[in-house]
Amino acid sequence: MRLMQHKQEAYWFYRYLSIFYDKLVNPLFWTARMRDKSLDIGHWEDGENLKVIDVGSGTGFTTEGIVQRVPAGNVTCVDQSPHQMGHAKVKPELRECTFREGDAENIPFADDTFDRYVSAGSIEYWPDPQLGVNESYRVIKPGGWALLIGPIEPVNPISKFAANTWMLFPPEEDYHAYYEEAGFENVQHTYVAPHWQENERYGIAIIGQKPKAGKSPSTYRPVAPEQSLVDANPEGFDLGRNLLLAGRVLLGSTAGFIFIPMALLASVSAPLRGIDAEPEPLNDEQKVVLIGLGVAAGAWVLHRLFRR
Ligand SMILES: C[S@@+](CC[C@H](N)C(=O)[O-])C[C@H]1O[C@@H](n2cnc3c(N)ncnc32)[C@H](O)[C@@H]1O
Repeated sequence: MRLMQHKQEAYWFYRYLSIFYDKLVNPLFWTARMRDKSLDIGHWEDGENLKVIDVGSGTGFTTEGIVQRVPAGNVTCVDQSPHQMGHAKVKPELRECTFREGDAENIPFADDTFDRYVSAGSIEYWPDPQLGVNESYRVIKPGGWALLIGPIEPVNPISKFAANTWMLFPPEEDYHAYYEEAGFENVQHTYVAPHWQENERYGIAIIGQKPKAGKSPSTYRPVAPEQSLVDANPEGFDLGRNLLLAGRVLLGSTAGFIFIPMALLASVSAPLRGIDAEPEPLNDEQKVVLIGLGVAAGAWVLHRLFRR
């Protein structure tokens, strides 16, 4: 049972996470270096004339990389979270982009509309990832390319258990299976990881080309239209359902907030652990969190000393 692999849970998770997403989440887990390496496999020749859709575009961090390759006026951002999108809309370099609230599994555009599809770090929340990948196929033109970036299931059993309880971390072979089922051809991939990770297969960027116009030839059919444990109740307010939703969002968010200081410590301790990749510089918000952690640890040590 994955806490966050549902639309309503993801919506509420980002209601608050969006406030510090750009400052504390991306600089640790989805860095500019990872973004650029992923986008590099995107076939951007003739960028001036490409129409691009960025699905699960969030605060526009990946879109910022896309508009370095394609004019911002050619880029459409789709996300189900108005809170995340609100942060993207005010970024000066994204002013010319088109913004549309919508679902990755039911993209609000006609078949064969775009030349490129990009989705970074969103698959983790899709209740039915094959539907999302089939949608990426549907909305691009024949000859167009769909680039999907997501995390790979960790190898360490404890990390694997934690990741799978939290959200979707597909094993690497599942990404290839999604693309094959959707009907993509010429599939290529690369791996991405932040500098503090020992495992270079932390995330994957996979890209495939659409051979023929129209919808995906996939025969996949969803098991249920919406797999959330907390479906919207057509009969109005339901206390039990709302408490369940709140509990799941709270648990999922707690897990998310614990990962931030853990990753920060992993980041600063990387050289001590023998990882010699060039570190990403810390921003002010990360420094504040580190100082906070130091003060809390110091207070705890003093408390233990004076209790004796
Ligand atoms: C980790 S953020 C990634 C944002 C952005 N792509 C980036 O590179 O920073 C994941 C985003 O996916 C969005 N999302 C989750 N499920 C979605 C769905 N079913 N349809 C559209 N967007 C979704 C969330 O609202 C969130 O903004």
